[in-house]
Amino acid sequence: MWDKLFKGDTTPEKAAENPLYQAVNRDRLPRHTAIIMDGNGRWAEGRGLLRTAGHTAGVSALKQTLKVAIDLGLPALTVYAFSTENWKRPHNEVDFLMRLFTDQLAKEIDEMDADGVRLRFLGRVDDLAPALREQARAAEARTKDNTGVCFSIAMNYGGQDELVRATQALAADVAAGRIAPGDIDAAAIEARLDTAGLPPVDLVIRTSGDLRLSNFLLWQAAYAEFWFTDTNWPDFTPAHFVEALRDYGRRERRFGGLKK
Ligand code: FPP
Repeated sequence: MWDKLFKGDTTPEKAAENPLYQAVNRDRLPRHTAIIMDGNGRWAEGRGLLRTAGHTAGVSALKQTLKVAIDLGLPALTVYAFSTENWKRPHNEVDFLMRLFTDQLAKEIDEMDADGVRLRFLGRVDDLAPALREQARAAEARTKDNTGVCFSIAMNYGGQDELVRATQALAADVAAGRIAPGDIDAAAIEARLDTAGLPPVDLVIRTSGDLRLSNFLLWQAAYAEFWFTDTNWPDFTPAHFVEALRDYGRRERRFGGLKK
């Protein structure tokens, strides 16, 4: 029922009227939501389709999810699109995904820009094919002054790899005498992560039944709440997202302290 109510309203006034969003406690929204979009392959295989059809179907789920983030004014949404480990997949699937990223970025950039989205890419973007790398950097540059949701796409991303790169950057700063070893604190590390400037991850959503983090935002998710669903990513709807946000709003977070 809720799915039928979802239109992707882009003005706050219109969005506020959408019954889908009425149940959301807007005072308790996550500052940063991170999504592991898992189960595209299983979705396709369950329908006798090629795995790549699952990735194509996953794009629609992602667009709807981003619309919810825009409608509700979420500050930051990050999705795991391709990990440093995903290169182990068959060539044709990797090629398909890279083409899908290129095509979708080209197709959606105008609308995302018009919706005030700030795009950002996390991971070893410089190691991607030159055309995709340039496209990603151009999209970041074009949307950098937007004031809406910060939408980050983790592409060729691994949490351990990100920490290795941050550590190398710190070591280089120490070696050059720019900082002393004793100056290295949490803020110095965060400033060298791909997510520098973004709020910590408050909520991690993972679809498709597996209960693990899979090398995603290891540092940033230190105190994140988790929300899991057995639903495969292509079947993830705005209603699922709203359910996750409602659940998050009811959680008591203590950050290692005691109940208030
Ligand atoms: C995980 O499902 C999904 C991926 C590795 C790719 C995610 C990509 C998309 C949803 C398309 C996003 C598009 C843009 C433009 C960012 P899986 O293949 O691991 O599924 P399985 O576990 O069932 O095999």
